[in-house]
Order: sequence, then structure tokens, then C-alpha cells
Amino acid sequence: MPRTYKISVLPGDGIGRDVIPQAVRVLDSVQNRIGGFQTELHEFECGGEYYLREGKEWSTEAEDFTKKEADAILLGAVGANNASGKSVRRPDGHLAGYSVVIGLRIGLELYANVRPVDLMEGVWSPIKDKTSKDINLTIVRENTEGLYAPRRDDQKKDDSSEIVIDRRVITRKGSERVARYAYELAKKSSGAPSDGKRRVTCVDKSNLLAGCQLFRASFDKVGIDFPEVEKDYAYVDAWTQWVIRKPEHYNIVVAPNEFGDIITDLGAAIQGGLGVAPAGSIGDQHGVFEPVHGSAPKYAGKNVANPMAAILAMGMMLEWLGSSHGDKGMKIAADMVKKAVVLVLKEGKIRTRDLCVGEWSAIQPSSTQDVTSTIIDKMKSIEIGG
Ligand code: IPM
Ligand code: MG
Repeated sequence: MPRTYKISVLPGDGIGRDVIPQAVRVLDSVQNRIGGFQTELHEFECGGEYYLREGKEWSTEAEDFTKKEADAILLGAVGANNASGKSVRRPDGHLAGYSVVIGLRIGLELYANVRPVDLMEGVWSPIKDKTSKDINLTIVRENTEGLYAPRRDDQKKDDSSEIVIDRRVITRKGSERVARYAYELAKKSSGAPSDGKRRVTCVDKSNLLAGCQLFRASFDKVGIDFPEVEKDYAYVDAWTQWVIRKPEHYNIVVAPNEFGDIITDLGAAIQGGLGVAPAGSIGDQHGVFEPVHGSAPKYAGKNVANPMAAILAMGMMLEWLGSSHGDKGMKIAADMVKKAVVLVLKEGKIRTRDLCVGEWSAIQPSSTQDVTSTIIDKMKSIEIGG
């Protein structure tokens, strides 16, 4: 009997509802093709639009299934605007949908937010003269603490506040576990594009901030267990210019939460944009896979959003499930999804508007659905396990 994996599917708001169904189409197709595993999809509404209607971010059933029963979680994006164009917020000021994104990251201890920065062939990068041979790194963002740690007091904040203090929590446990994740990833990787060395760069602000000093000390301590991996260091401000000048130096990068948030958008830009940037929030027991992009309400429902980030995130989900359960079929499926996206981009003709730039600016943009159909067709031409 093939194993059945339960997946919580949370399209959320805006273009999340355009791209997640596309990732599901690709999932259906790849599992039919490979066989050997099955997925059981449980889809739930959640986010800002749901909040506007129901007064809560998701149903108890959705929350219970997602937290307690799902083997993996596939998330679109959350964030909606109300009738007057303002973003929908909870009474505590948090974005409606916060529980789904940040709540799951913290609540399920998804301590490593893994964001590959891979410039695929056929995609234009704003960095002049850099090609797919130069840009292939992975940013591992600490995902449970830092400036995102829950507030532990009742500090009131409203428009009349004269001072607001955001607390930044960095713990040894949080820093060590994310560092270990980054080193393990480096061990399995093929190294940095420039020299093939397996390297982890710790990106922090330890010249100034005490929390970052603990983060770096934890990185060094865990690093003793990985003598084969080169240790590398950068202050976050300097790193933003180094990655533009010399992206090929970087293999795996690890950073505290809020710095990781910022530098992964930079990463998305140099790999060709948010349309091709996937992410996985991973812990020891659970994983949430989502595109890095947001809900982009302006483009929602127009069949124009790039489904590739969501499709690649779904591929990361298969890879993670395959590795965690020792399921070879899943890993083969994950490879096939990635290969199909790579091939479609390389051929160049079928792409959404966001990718019709640079050398590809003369191409007539394709729709969200047509891009997905092309990826599905392409999978048919890929040899299983090849
Ligand atoms: C991200 C997003 C989120 C974050 C937002 C939507 C809360 O920017 O996943 O990078 O800040 O982590
Ligand atoms: Mg972000």
C-alpha cells in the first residue's frame, strides 16, 4: 500500500488563492506519474478575507487539523484590505492572518526558514553579468525568535504612543538549532558556485548587538561538529553589498529572524524576483511551505500571478516529506517538479509578466494557468528518476 500523506492546504488571501490551486495541479500530476505515494489534501480558508467575514483568522477545524494531523502544510499568502483600502488587522494590531504565518512558525517550532536563492537559466537578474552559474545560495533564516518573539507584556501601543519598544529575543537554544540546520544543509550541498567549497556564512550585527554576539557564539560552537564546512562571517549591512558584488561566494547563509526577513527579499530580487522564490519553514516535526511573496491583492483573481514560487515551494514540501520519511518516490517527485520548472524557464517562451524583462522583455506574457499547464506537460517528458 502506498503511504498517504495528509496535507493542510491554506491558500489564504489574494494571489495565494491563484497560485496554490496551481501547485495542487502539479502535485496531482506528479503523484499520478510517479505512483508509490498518495496525498490527501485538506483545504481550509484562512487569513484577512476570512477574518472580515467570520471575525477570526481560521476555523477551529482548520487550526486543529493543521497543527495536529497534517504531515505537511502548503500555504499561499495572507493579508487583505478592507473596503477603505486599509490592511485588515486584529484588535491587537497584528495583521489578520498573523496566527497562520507567524503563529505556526513559532507555535510549531519551525525554527529554520529555508529560502533558496537560485538564479535559474532563462531568468533575468538585476545584477549585471551574473548568470545561473553565479547565484545559487540558500538563506536559512531563524524563524521563531528575534524581533518576532511574542511580546511578553501588555505594552499598549496606539497612534499617540511616544515610545514603543520592540523586544528582540535571542536564545542559545534557538541559535544553536538553526546553526546546526545550516551546517547540515551545507554538508549535503554541492558548495559555493565560486570554488565548490561547502561554507556557511553567519550574517549578523555582532559588532554592536549582544543578541547577535550570542547568535555568532552559538554558530561557532555548533560549527565544531562540522569540521568539513568552512565558517564565514559578515555583518548584515556589509553582506547586502557583498552579495551583490560576489554572490558566487555564498553557499549557505544563516541569519537571525528579522535580518533574514530583509535579506531574503534581496535574495529573491537577485534570483529574478518574488515570482520564483520559494520557502520552507521547517522544524523537527512539522513543515510549512509557501512562496516568499505576499498576497498582492491588486493582482488577485486576474490569472497573472507567477505560480512558480508556489510550485517550487510544493516541490520543497515533497523533498522534505521524502527525506523525513525515507520515501524515495517523494524525492523523485520533488526532483521532477524542480526540473520541469527549470526546463520551462530555460526554453523561455512561456512565462508570466514578471519574468518578461531584460532579454525576455519582448515575450508575450502567459497566464498563471498556462504556465502551470506547460510545467505539467514538461514533466511528461522527464524520465522518472532521470
Ligand atoms: C515573510 C513575510 C512575513 C515575515 C510577513 C508576511 C509577516 O515578510 O515571510 O518574509 O515578516 O516574516
Ligand atoms: Mg519577508
